[in-house]
This record gives sequence, C-alpha cells and structure tokens, in this order.
Amino acid sequence: MARITTATIKEKKRRQERITMLTAYDYSMAGMVDQAGIDMILVGDSLGNVMLGYENTLAVTMDDMVHHTKAVTRAVKNALVVGDMPFLSYHISLEEAVRNAGRLIQEGGAQAVKIEGGTERVNTVKAILDAQIPVMGHIGLTPQSVNAFGGFKVQGKDLETARKLIRDAQALDKAGVFALVMECVPSELARRITEEVSCPTIGIGAGPYCDGQVLVINDMLGMYGGHVPKFVKKFVDLQPLIIEALKNYKEEVESGAFPSAEHCFTIQDEVLDKLYGGS
Ligand code: KIV
Repeated sequence: MARITTATIKEKKRRQERITMLTAYDYSMAGMVDQAGIDMILVGDSLGNVMLGYENTLAVTMDDMVHHTKAVTRAVKNALVVGDMPFLSYHISLEEAVRNAGRLIQEGGAQAVKIEGGTERVNTVKAILDAQIPVMGHIGLTPQSVNAFGGFKVQGKDLETARKLIRDAQALDKAGVFALVMECVPSELARRITEEVSCPTIGIGAGPYCDGQVLVINDMLGMYGGHVPKFVKKFVDLQPLIIEALKNYKEEVESGAFPSAEHCFTIQDEVLDKLYGGS
C-alpha cells in the first residue's frame, strides 16, 4: 500500500471518497490503527486528557507532543501522521510557531501539523506553510479555547457564531490548509461549509456531511473512564473486558494457576545436578 500524503487526502475529496482519521499516542495503538487502513493518525493534544489524566488540554507541552509523536511514527507505515500543536506553542510569535511545528516534523517524524483557530491564525498558518510544513486547521469547539468559550459548547448555532465559522473556514482554506477539522458544529452548517471550501473537512461532532470523520481512539474503543461527549460512538467497550482480564490475572497468580507449564522454560536435569549436586 502506498504511503498516504496530503495530496492523497485532497484527492479523496475530489473523488468524493470519505476520509478516516483517529488519534493515537503510542507505538502499539498506532500500529493497530495503521494496520486497519485508517488514512490519517492525529497525535492529538487530547493525550492530555486520555493519557496524562489532565482535566483539559492546556497543560500539554511541546515536549509531551514530540515524545508521543515519536512513538507513533515509529509504528506507522502507511497513514499520514499529523502532530498537534499544543496550547501556547504557536501563539507567541510566528518564529516560535515555525520552530515548534518544525520539531514535530524533524524530531517527531510527523508529516503535517494541526493548529486550532480561524481568521486570527491565518498568518501563523502561512508562516508554517512557508517552511514547507503542511497544516491542518481546526475550528468550532477548539478545546484550547475552553476558558475563552466559558466551557465546552457547540459552536455555530446562532447567527453570529455561524458567520464566524464560515469566515474562519474560508480564511483557512484560502491560506492553504490541506484539511480542516470542524468540532461540535451543527450538521447542516458543516454541510454548507464542506461544499464551499476546497480543502477536505474532517468532522468530530459535526455530522455526516463532512468529507471525513475523526474520533479520539480511547473514546471509540471504550477505554476512557472520564466524560465521553454525545458525538462519540463506542465501536467496542473495552474497559469492562480489560478489567475482567486483569481480575483473572490477579486470581490466577494468587491461586498459582499462572504460570503453568506452557509459559515456563525448562533446564536439563544433568545441568541442575551439576549446579546443585542432585539435591
Ligand atoms: O486533540 C485531539 O484529539 C483533537 C481531535 C479532537 C480533533 O484535536
């Protein structure tokens, strides 16, 4: 299978083929996502919630992102890997934004980066693109703006925020993002935006008319014990299965049933005899 590139993703929109994206944060999971043939893997700053146990994504650092991006790219052979730019890594200056985006590519091995925000991020997107780094946009409910939004709220339900979303999508599309995540946006508005912009839209809580979909992997596999949003479908509920397996392990270790012969190594009697004199 040929390696997926940003050109492949744009071509999929042209051919009206749906695009798949999931998050992954470590080597083992990224390998499975890649084997399943998912188009893009996002090393999301949602790792702050699901891997590091923070309340939101604001505490995630560039070093966290580079560390997890490296683990993911070591496993991936086909999918396009997108590294997420964490809070404050692209807000202070264009120079810092380019340097930090470069770290995800150069140290992390990602093929593209994602940044949150609309019209206010156009110059940042252009600066990163100038360094030949493909950029994915992210509008709607952008989790790094949780304090500015006053909570996690669906965006674009009223005239003012809907107009802002349309302006944001058009501005990022024009700036040259290769794809655009829309999070928590009413389905009909996401449909109009998807029809209007040339880049593929990737929805999360944005309905069925986007060009593609993304979910946080721990949510869709039922592996996260925290709050799971309405837009998540659990394709499997792994948490109870994992806890059951762990309980079985505890029981078997405590009873002596594990390890049995099939999990043990042997040594010849004569070697033992030489060591311990037949005792
Ligand atoms: O960090 C993340 O996982 C994301 C997705 C929710 C799009 O930004």
